Amino acid sequence: MVTENKTLVVIFGGSGDLAHRKLYPALFQLYLKGSLNKHFAVIGTARRPWTHEFFREGVIENLSDGTLEQRQAFAEHFYYQSHDVQDSEHYVALKNVIDKLDDKYQIGGNRLFYMAMAPSLFGTIAEHLRSEHLLSHDGYNRLIIEKPFGHDYESALALNNAIVNTFDEDQVFRIDHYLGKEMVQNIPCIRFANPFLNAVWNRDYIDNIQITLAESLGVEERGGYYETSGALRDMVQNHIMQIVAMLAFPRPEKYDDRAINQAKSQVFASLPVYTPEQVRTKFVRGQYGEDASGKQAAYRNEDKIEADSTVETFVAGEIDLDMPQWQGVPFYVRTGKRLPAKKTRIDVVFKADQSELFTEQPANPVLTIDVEPDLGVEFTLNGKEIGTSSLIKVDQLQYLLDEEQQKKVPDAYERLLLEAMLGKQGNFAQWEGMTGSWHFVDAIRKAWSQEKDVDFPNYQSGTMGPKAADELLSKTGRHWIYQG
Ligand code: BG6
Repeated sequence: MVTENKTLVVIFGGSGDLAHRKLYPALFQLYLKGSLNKHFAVIGTARRPWTHEFFREGVIENLSDGTLEQRQAFAEHFYYQSHDVQDSEHYVALKNVIDKLDDKYQIGGNRLFYMAMAPSLFGTIAEHLRSEHLLSHDGYNRLIIEKPFGHDYESALALNNAIVNTFDEDQVFRIDHYLGKEMVQNIPCIRFANPFLNAVWNRDYIDNIQITLAESLGVEERGGYYETSGALRDMVQNHIMQIVAMLAFPRPEKYDDRAINQAKSQVFASLPVYTPEQVRTKFVRGQYGEDASGKQAAYRNEDKIEADSTVETFVAGEIDLDMPQWQGVPFYVRTGKRLPAKKTRIDVVFKADQSELFTEQPANPVLTIDVEPDLGVEFTLNGKEIGTSSLIKVDQLQYLLDEEQQKKVPDAYERLLLEAMLGKQGNFAQWEGMTGSWHFVDAIRKAWSQEKDVDFPNYQSGTMGPKAADELLSKTGRHWIYQG
């Protein structure tokens, strides 16, 4: 039986793209499944003067599934409030609407404040929520925030300080949508529910771990943002680091949010801060040029991009965690735009048998976790050639979700919104962890900023990035398992 969640969601940036494309459809899925039913309301706020009706039409337009009646009944719970986040008076008006709706839908004071807008305004909004008494005393008050959460450690700290006066850490839900992906959430289960895997999940048996977040799309219409971010801040500081933590955290005492977050924070605390020399040998950056046919534009020719931009659209690197379990095990990470295909996957490369038991050298067994677009697990194992030969043959065991199963997988936002309503913080980024990942990323940025003569573009659109990314592994006798 699905239990209904009583909640009032206030979305700052309610007229925006994220809200329409992701948040409203996710809330609708929760509605269809019964997690939201009668006792909920959504207030969208933004500066434009919209009517409730106009707002609701926009919400409905972005919904699929369900019947027209269901979409309309759902949209009836939506209200629009024109709001200037700098103006105290507007918070008084917003409080009135909140109180009325709380009463009308008998919500009992549960409030989710979602900041789907520029981070520079997070502090102002949080401050006003407190000073103008928009926080309830009966139910919960929770804050959901979106990245970019800062552009370096200092700015992230300033942002955090701006919200901690109003919200405690256990009321803050920092969205990293990769933590809402089915196969990322599956990692602890794969690791700990299979004792034989847990037993070998360490430096004695694992040679290296590879994480690839490849995208086929370019920067699209987000040039303005991307020029201030680059792949390192856009993908590595958050999504990749969270996956590293999921793969590396020590077995917790309990399988609950607090214990998992504590275990993950040990990984973040063990991230290295590389010297410029280490950055030079352990990290590679790239920027896409046009594709072989010349049809796809080079990054520097995209909209809102500087003609001599040195912003990276590709990063590959080696992360050495300072944890006894992982001494000497490189975590190779790689992400880039305009690679051959969209692919998110993890390859756990086990050590190969080094004895002379076999006449030929067995291959490294590999456990692959497919995150997207396929979802599932693959095992690459050594076996024997069929027949009288005793030669080794590498085989694959594969378990991928079929289409029907994939349909049952909730979207990341749906899952994370529900978890925020339930107060489950296990799949949200914690401040402590962000500290470590920002220090790690800042050191790389700093080293790069001191390098002159950046030779960009250095990879063709539609290829797996610059050659140097392959050399990163080949110089140690390894190779990327996923070749694109
Ligand atoms: C976002 C980045 O966080 O993740 C985008 O800002 C990127 O640049 C996106 O395209 C990738 O997400 P997904 O879920 O499509 O892999």
